Amino acid sequence: MRISGKTRVLGIIGAPVGHSLSPAMQNAAIEELGLDYVYVPFPVEPDFLGQAVEGLRRLGVWGFNVTIPHKSAIIPFLDRIAPEAELCGAVNTVCREGELLVGYNTDGIGFLASVREDLGHDPRGSSVLILGAGGAARGAVAALAGAGVACIVIANRTRERGVALVERCQSAFPGVRFVVSSLAEDELVEHLRGADLLVNTTSVGMNGTNFECLPLFALPPAGLVYDMVYVPAETPLLAEAKTRGLACANGTGMLAAQGEAAFSLWTGRQAPRSIMRQKLLAELER
Ligand code: ATR
Repeated sequence: MRISGKTRVLGIIGAPVGHSLSPAMQNAAIEELGLDYVYVPFPVEPDFLGQAVEGLRRLGVWGFNVTIPHKSAIIPFLDRIAPEAELCGAVNTVCREGELLVGYNTDGIGFLASVREDLGHDPRGSSVLILGAGGAARGAVAALAGAGVACIVIANRTRERGVALVERCQSAFPGVRFVVSSLAEDELVEHLRGADLLVNTTSVGMNGTNFECLPLFALPPAGLVYDMVYVPAETPLLAEAKTRGLACANGTGMLAAQGEAAFSLWTGRQAPRSIMRQKLLAELER
């Protein structure tokens, strides 16, 4: 990789960013297409987010990803927010468009692409049970509602957050039936019985953690399970789904697909998918 005076700088801001797999994945794509770009990590603490965005703007940085904990907090510092990012209240990709910094959200696109590809499922007309009501859930709900699902049940530990998410989405998607649930077993059994797809958007499953009670037996035999967690590759939820013979996928495909969509936004080029996925899987194995 040759850096010159014309090299366009891309990057990622977050705290921490040291663990991010995006630099390896994006630089592999840049190298594959022989583009004059470079992608670097920028650790940014929450107190300095505004100054950091202003700095990136003044330094002429071409575009950047945004990760935890800045996805919502960055919105006031940007000039324009794309509709899908506005809807889920979170930005994961920023593009320079003329003098403006524009915020996008490619997490939802990535999630849908992964459901279609890794589970072979078109969500149109489906009933989906979402575990969680945070930022990741908002992205998934907006993407699924936009793709024409029939019903979305939001099951969250803190009920008010589920209610708030439904209120936010119901007016934007009047054709979708939204339901709020707790994580209590009897309620989950009832909702799982009618679900085509179960999606975990919470951090439960990372570091060997598991849900206290998730009655997976109630999901119909053709039901699908998607876990956004990708470390470990097989969470306890996915292990149980496999034992029960249910088709399932972890969040690796979503991580790759959101990165591919961001790459295309910045470069105007189709992302070299297999190279990006290979790099991602190699990094995950390390
Ligand atoms: P993200 O942007 O990754 O979604 P977040 O906005 O902090 O992160 O949301 C985390 C989600 O995981 C929330 O839905 C949270 O439930 P609460 O709203 O009750 O906090 C959920 N979550 C985290 N740890 C959990 C646990 N141990 N059991 C159940 N849900 C959990």
